[in-house]
Amino acid sequence: MSDAAAEIWILGATGRTGRDVARLLAAQGLSPTLVGRDRARLQAAADPLPAGARVVVAPDVPAIADAIRREHPAVVVNTVGPFARTAAPILRACLPASSYLDLANDVVAADAVLALHDEAERAGRTAVTGAGFGVVATEAPIAALMAERSAPHAVRVDAIASLATEAGPLGEALAATIVEGVPEGGRRITGGRLVRAGVGSFPLRLTLPDGDVVTTGAWPAGDLLAAARTSGAPEVVAATTAVPTGRAVRAVLPLAGPLLRLAPLQRFAVRRLAAVRLPDRPRSREHSWGHARAEWADGTVREAWLRTGDAGTFTAAVAAAVAARIARGAAVPGAHTPVAAVGLDLVAEAGGELLLP
Ligand SMILES: NC(=O)c1ccc[n+]([C@@H]2O[C@H](COP(=O)([O-])OP(=O)(O)OC[C@H]3O[C@@H](n4cnc5c(N)ncnc54)[C@H](OP(=O)(O)O)[C@@H]3O)[C@@H](O)[C@H]2O)c1
Repeated sequence: MSDAAAEIWILGATGRTGRDVARLLAAQGLSPTLVGRDRARLQAAADPLPAGARVVVAPDVPAIADAIRREHPAVVVNTVGPFARTAAPILRACLPASSYLDLANDVVAADAVLALHDEAERAGRTAVTGAGFGVVATEAPIAALMAERSAPHAVRVDAIASLATEAGPLGEALAATIVEGVPEGGRRITGGRLVRAGVGSFPLRLTLPDGDVVTTGAWPAGDLLAAARTSGAPEVVAATTAVPTGRAVRAVLPLAGPLLRLAPLQRFAVRRLAAVRLPDRPRSREHSWGHARAEWADGTVREAWLRTGDAGTFTAAVAAAVAARIARGAAVPGAHTPVAAVGLDLVAEAGGELLLP
């Protein structure tokens, strides 16, 4: 398949990440097709691209799935969260004729995509979940450690994102991802099994390579499944600075979970959060970091870091690089996390750097 001929659809092309991915693909000479709910806003996203872009209007997930089944694009980039709701129906519409990638970073969505491995492999298509800062920021350092020594007995990964915000509403995709994530609670892997863990549990004060100190806590991120699959370790914790780790908040969060399972309350919370206006603000720290720590039964401990700049910029670069590689036929068929699908050199292409002290 030649890249110029490969049609790459971007779902959610009017969004922050969708627009950036379109720009990056266009800069490589690829012609993305922009898919979204509103023709005028899609056209406004297409106009600045050097060769313009075709736009496809599809108001919701069933309409997107119908359009994919009808037109068979080569690659579909899904930026429409919450992925726990959108990933499986869109991936099912893609297989057997289209490859797929998404920006999901939650256990439920990652599990749904990875569960379709055999189907994707039989069809000769690639499905990638977590094509962004989450999962790559932690999958890459753990993969780098495993290239040196395998079979650790315990692994911990930490994601420390720093990102600028552009003025405007937070938006429905991100709001629903947050609100629907809370009732899920946290997760960890123990004895090789996925079990519940409190959101923000396993708090850890981490000194970053540049001297900053942050605290991370457990979150049911796709990073957890990626770290477990990459390392094979029976004990795995995935943590992030994006959750509150204070004892009081950790005590209250389990009470909010059952409430947010009630559909009317959930819809209300999504509407309110989606409308919250973000300021135009530069990122708080110069670097975003991913951290991996592996421990072996003989007591050996190794750590590795991924360093990049703005986590949002890295996300768009990862998604564009994975989409372009799939379009070129340079990805493994089946359902995978990003580094497993296209290799560790994805990090440098997306503007990241691996540090193995
Ligand atoms: N893995 C990572 O590291 C990573 C990084 C960044 C973002 N993300 C995730 O990626 C998603 C997108 O982030 P973003 O910052 O680009 O969000 P955004 O700016 O709000 O864009 C979301 C896009 O999805 C569309 N959309 C939302 N709900 C939809 C629905 N029900 N049906 C059809 N289209 C819908 C929006 O269309 P309208 O313009 O019509 O509203 C918009 O085009 C979020 O879920 C976020 O959590 C992950």
